Amino acid sequence: MNRRLTNKLYSTMSYAYQIKSLEQYQSEYKKSVEDPEKFWGDIAENFYWRKKWESVLNWNFAEPKIEWYKGGKLNITENCIDRHLATMADQPAIIWEPNNPEERVRTVTYARLHKRVCQFAQVLKNNGVKKGDRVCIYMGMVPELAYAVLGCARIGAIHSVIFGGFSAQSIADRLEDAQATFIVTCDGAYRGGKDIPLKSVIDEALIGNKTVKRVIVYTRTRTPVSMIKGRDVWWEDEMEYAETQIEKDGVVSFPAEEMDAEDPLFILYTSGSTGKPKGVVHSVAGYMVWTNYTFVNVFQYQPGDIHFCTADIGWITGHSYIVYGPLSAGATSLMFEGIPTWPDAGRFWDIVEKHKVNCLYTAPTAIRSLMTFGTEPIKGKNLSSLKILGTVGEPINEEAWHWYDENIGQKKCPIVDTWWQTETGGCLISNLAGVTPAKASWATLPLPGVQPLLVDENGKEVTEKDENGLMKGNLCMRAPWPGILRTTYGDHERCRTNYFATYPNLYFTGDGALKDENGFYRITGRVDDVLNISGHRIGTAEVENAINMHAGVVESAIVGYPHDIKGQGIYAFVIYNGHHGDEALRRQDISLTVAKIIGPIAKPDKIQFVTGLPKTRSGKIMRRILRKIAEGETENLGDTSTLLDPAIVDEIKNGKI
Ligand code: PRX
Repeated sequence: MNRRLTNKLYSTMSYAYQIKSLEQYQSEYKKSVEDPEKFWGDIAENFYWRKKWESVLNWNFAEPKIEWYKGGKLNITENCIDRHLATMADQPAIIWEPNNPEERVRTVTYARLHKRVCQFAQVLKNNGVKKGDRVCIYMGMVPELAYAVLGCARIGAIHSVIFGGFSAQSIADRLEDAQATFIVTCDGAYRGGKDIPLKSVIDEALIGNKTVKRVIVYTRTRTPVSMIKGRDVWWEDEMEYAETQIEKDGVVSFPAEEMDAEDPLFILYTSGSTGKPKGVVHSVAGYMVWTNYTFVNVFQYQPGDIHFCTADIGWITGHSYIVYGPLSAGATSLMFEGIPTWPDAGRFWDIVEKHKVNCLYTAPTAIRSLMTFGTEPIKGKNLSSLKILGTVGEPINEEAWHWYDENIGQKKCPIVDTWWQTETGGCLISNLAGVTPAKASWATLPLPGVQPLLVDENGKEVTEKDENGLMKGNLCMRAPWPGILRTTYGDHERCRTNYFATYPNLYFTGDGALKDENGFYRITGRVDDVLNISGHRIGTAEVENAINMHAGVVESAIVGYPHDIKGQGIYAFVIYNGHHGDEALRRQDISLTVAKIIGPIAKPDKIQFVTGLPKTRSGKIMRRILRKIAEGETENLGDTSTLLDPAIVDEIKNGKI
């Protein structure tokens, strides 16, 4: 690398802003609230900017308008890759563990990552992708997925990764909403014992699509695919050609596009309480600062540590804590293609031993599922490299927390319970590993810059404690942090009404929470019509719409119920007037319809056929009653006298499955 450029981009990864004690946390928190501009201005000095910002923060929640580091110019890939090259070119950026443990591990150094991302940026350019264009990425967990994401960021294209479990219809809706022009996919993906087709799903999603010009296909499973002339190209051919174009004196390089701090970096679709998923938009600079700051502090990353986040890059957790957070910190991020239970339930522990993992970050649902296998799969596995454990995605029950602590952490590893959302970009409420106190099933304290409060239904701040000394309310935020969403793609009004209109001048999370006398928060779960199934958000309206597409269904209502492994399961009440006599077959058909319309993740766990739904005279479904029935409550269903047909409640109660 050119020496001058090297000096300019070089920064030692010493993490001057890593909080080391509870007292320091308290003083940093105080500073961040009293003078956020000074605080976040100082933190931002730790990154590489082409041009420094003019103002740190401008905001109002009324519109909402939120701008961090306005006037600053940068490219996130220079911060995630180029600036590490001088000192860490040969350090692994990504260690890839394949689905099949017999297959070769791939270690991608920062130098190799730089090369691949540059090549892919050139591929995008060759195919006509420009800054601001939307690129949809639908791939399995292969390193090429990270190259694709970062290649987009390098040229300033907006990536929108879609989890491999979504159906053709879901992809089609997202392509349409984002007006995407380019797709990156694989022939297929390996997940445990299954080969999942991906390219053929894209083909189906593209029927009738008018915006997509090019599909690039990476070969992973060698599943036969049809390649459409003029539209579909192979990743391997494109990358090879791109390399010949940009290689000079043995060095492959592609100049990073200069981006405005507030340019969008990506769109990620997530479910809300209405039928249509929303495209959450994050912008370049704030997201970079937030994912880096939270990564370094929550996980207390030390240079050389191996960080293993088990999420899929199709979700926000993978974006923030496999790709952007770790790479911007010059860390080594372990990326796993498979699932925790294949070839057996010891897979995570084999990976920890094999790669000497220092930090394991996973979901409570995975922990609960592994708990059902007992401790046998852990026996004989060397887990001594582990220093820190983390959980994310849903509330963790105390039993799972203690199992994780005792059997995996062997009571030596702090557990961080990280509460956050797609919209928040990174962790908002979490203990800092080993630095601030942990409390089983409590997310505990807000990170610096995060100002939570609890409000009642009228938006009044809750200040009274209940008989247990706890405050209880809906969780909101008073002020923006750098990683907050900026808009919902193509529909800013939707962003306002969803997050900023329920309570004036507050960001509303959609979660309920408790607060104890130490100021610790415990997240109790969603208070809106959003379910959390195995740590994934699914809107009840979305599932209802899908079920109602089935020809025999008249109407349906979905509620969540407690599920031992998934946290919440999907309970569907369905009015059916089709001709099929066999209930089991009807259930299968309905599940298949949901899998077709949304994806297998949204299949109902239970389907009860009913002749009516409990509705008020104005036609509103009383979900509160259905929720109680699904939870197994038979008494105390509340006042049913206002129902159009109170007798229906008994019928539903008696037919519960
Ligand atoms: O209800 C909260 C739950 O997951 C929701 C956010 O889902 P999503 O945007 O898909 O992001 C998941 C990964 C960040 C939240 O509104 N949630 C997330 N983390 C926790 C949690 N609930 C309790 N404890 C957590 N640690």
